[in-house]
Amino acid sequence: METLFSGIQPSGIPTLGNYIGALKQFNEIQHDYDCFFCIVDQHAITVPQDRLKLRENTRKLAAIYLASGLDPEKVTLFIQSEVPAHIQAGWILTTISSIGELERMTQYKDKAQKQSQGIPAGLLTYPPLMAADIVLYNTNIVPVGDDQKQHIELTRNVVDRFNTKYNDVLIKPEIHMPKFGARIMSLQDPSKKMSKSDDNQKNFISLLDEPNVAAKKIKSAVTDSDGIVKYDKENKPGISNLLVIYSSLSGQSIEELEAQYADKGYGDFKGDLAEEVKKFLVEFQEKFNYYYENKEVLDEILDKGRDKASFVANKTLKKMENAIGLGRKRK
Ligand code: TYM
Repeated sequence: METLFSGIQPSGIPTLGNYIGALKQFNEIQHDYDCFFCIVDQHAITVPQDRLKLRENTRKLAAIYLASGLDPEKVTLFIQSEVPAHIQAGWILTTISSIGELERMTQYKDKAQKQSQGIPAGLLTYPPLMAADIVLYNTNIVPVGDDQKQHIELTRNVVDRFNTKYNDVLIKPEIHMPKFGARIMSLQDPSKKMSKSDDNQKNFISLLDEPNVAAKKIKSAVTDSDGIVKYDKENKPGISNLLVIYSSLSGQSIEELEAQYADKGYGDFKGDLAEEVKKFLVEFQEKFNYYYENKEVLDEILDKGRDKASFVANKTLKKMENAIGLGRKRK
C-alpha cells in the first residue's frame, strides 16, 4: 500500500476552507493509503503564538481531524514536536536548500510582510522542514489545497538534490489536490483565500463557529449586483466561491445548483446555503465534542500515533544520516 502524508498547523481553528481543501479529501481517500496525519505545531511557531492557545488549538485540531471522519484504528495521527526526527531531518534538508529558492516562496513573502518585530528565520526555513515531514514517511502522495503547491514542488526538488548528492534514499512525493475546492476564498474579500489566521472573523467560517453565527456570515458574504447564480470565477468570484462551498457540502454539482437557482435570487441561494452550513457544523461539532471531551481517548490515539510515527521516521532519518556520514555508522 502506498503512503500518504499531510499536515495542518494549529495556528488557529481550521476553517471551512481547510475542510473542503484538505480534511474532506483526507476522509475520502484514507482507506486507499497508509496514512500519516500531523499536527504541525513546530510550523505554527514560525510566527508568534500564545503558549496556552497553542496547546488548546493543538488538542482541538486533533479532535477536528477525527471529527472529519478519520478512522483512528486505521490512520496515524500525531503531533510534530513529539517526533524529534522532523527537526533533525529538517535541518539536513535546510543545508541543501538555497536562500534564493526559499525567498521565492509566496507564503514566505506574504507572511514576512506581516511581521512587525523583524522576520523570524524560521519563516524562511519553513519549507525544508515541511519537506522533512513528508520524506520521513516515504510518502507517495500529499493531499493539500492549492496554496501548498509551491512547497510541494520545492520538496520534490530537494528530494532530487538529496538523492543525487548522497544516495537514492528518499521517495519523491506527488501532490494530490481536490478537483475543485482547492482554494476557498474569503467571504468578505473573494480575491484572497480563506485563512484561519485572518484578523477579520467575518472572512472565514471556523469549524467551531456557533452554527447560527456561521449562517449569518454566509448571508452577509460579498457577492455582486447582477443577481444571477452562475459560476464565473473571473467575473463573479463571490458567488462562484459560495457555489463551490455549497457543492462540496451538499454533493450536488455546480451545474445542478445553477439550474436549481436559475429563477431565484441571491437571497434564496444564500439562505439555503446558510442552512446547509448550519447542518454540517451541528453534525461536525457533535463528533468534535466527543473526542475533545474524552481526553483519555484522544490521548491514547495521539500516544499510539507518536510511537508509530517515531518508528517509521527514525528509520528514514538513520538512512539519511548514514548516507551523509553523520555520527557513527549504525545499522
Ligand atoms: P495550513 O495549516 O495552512 O492548511 C492546512 C490544509 O488546508 C489547505 N487550505 C485550504 N484549502 C482550500 N481553501 C483554503 N482557503 C485553504 N486554506 C488552507 C492547505 O492547502 C493545507 O492542505 N504548510 C502547511 C502544513 C504542513 C504540511 C506539511 C502539509 C506542514 N507540513 C507536509 C502537507 C505536508 C500549512 O500551513 O497548511
